[in-house]
Amino acid sequence: MLKKITSKQLLVGMYIQKLGSSWMEHSFWRKRFLLDDANDIQRVIESGITEVWIDTTKGRDLPRDSALATTPNDTEEVQIAEAALQAAPTAKVATEAVRIGTEQEIHAKEITRAAKICAQGKAAVISMFQDIRMGRTVSAKAAEELVDEISASVMRNPGALISLARLKTADDYTYMHSVAVCALMVALARQWEGIDEATTRELGMAGLLHDLGKALTPPEVLNKPGKLTDEEFMLVKQHPAKGHRLLLDSSNVGEIPLDVVLHHHEKMDGTGYPYRLRGDEISLYARMGAVCDVYDAITSNRPYKTGWDPGQSIRKMAEWCPSHFDDKVFKAFVKSLGIYPIGSLVQLASGRLAVVVEQTEQSLVVPKVKVFFSTSANGYILPEVIDLSRPRQKEKIVSCASAEAWGLKNIDQFLVL
Ligand SMILES: [Fe+2]
Ligand SMILES: [Fe+2]
Repeated sequence: MLKKITSKQLLVGMYIQKLGSSWMEHSFWRKRFLLDDANDIQRVIESGITEVWIDTTKGRDLPRDSALATTPNDTEEVQIAEAALQAAPTAKVATEAVRIGTEQEIHAKEITRAAKICAQGKAAVISMFQDIRMGRTVSAKAAEELVDEISASVMRNPGALISLARLKTADDYTYMHSVAVCALMVALARQWEGIDEATTRELGMAGLLHDLGKALTPPEVLNKPGKLTDEEFMLVKQHPAKGHRLLLDSSNVGEIPLDVVLHHHEKMDGTGYPYRLRGDEISLYARMGAVCDVYDAITSNRPYKTGWDPGQSIRKMAEWCPSHFDDKVFKAFVKSLGIYPIGSLVQLASGRLAVVVEQTEQSLVVPKVKVFFSTSANGYILPEVIDLSRPRQKEKIVSCASAEAWGLKNIDQFLVL
């Protein structure tokens, strides 16, 4: 059935039959196509196209509660939908719709706020790096407000900022990595019993500043798209000491950031750097820094390797306990991210693969997921969001899955709700 919808109602999986006005005015080269890329939705909207015709026999339909669509001939379908709504036990349906609508609205708002904070964070770290490269001293004061905003976002919804900060490009890796480690430190500190608000803020600051010494690493080494030579690696290994020195010279930097900056590459078995400290010689705060730092590094895409998904990364890091990480800190970290962190690939009881798109504190084991792949058909299917926490939901997670094993690339594209 052909259906006219607004371009803002477009969803991945819909089959576009016709854009509202003439095709020739737009840069889309295909006359009809299955919308399989969320970026195309943005392109349609940005092109100024307000109406779109979709074919619901070839692709996904609007969700049942969207009543704005019209068929080409008349408004029969809208009338049927309205009649059905009137016949339904309205109070219950309406309450549920309002609940889902409100939850989605709050989540969408937090994502928008988080995206803004990420952009501000990136700009602030870039400016700190520039100051250092030009020989100016760093003012941590300027970063305080940013740490407060990151903390507030993490408190409201840890998943929003953490999952956004993970999606970085090769170019902005170093800067976004600092923002991501700041958010992860705040989430971990909240999970740790006995850490007060002031210390949480200091830990966030430590995450933001932990790699500041890299501003003094030659950019060609820092951004080298490949394996470093021994000599280059020696240069990189100097960044904790260089960062520590820089912060000692600037005012207003607390003991915790100083400690984390200097010791976040130490390992529990004494094989880390710069001082090969072991066990209790490494402070709790530096151990926290080590876990957050490695998690963000291995989940991020780099020019020479695709990042692991969050679930796979957690499993890998568990293997590196207790030689690399403190067991207790790592367990608290996993708790702070949730059992299935946003972006994890999971297999459902039906055999479908899905990516975790949203998680709330009430639903650690039953997050919202987006199914997109059938293991029995070994192929992509129309993406669909399933809230596993809904009552009478039969679908459930049976295991984590490996994107590599199924030959899947760029599963992050399904993160867009
Ligand atoms: Fe580092
Ligand atoms: Fe780092």
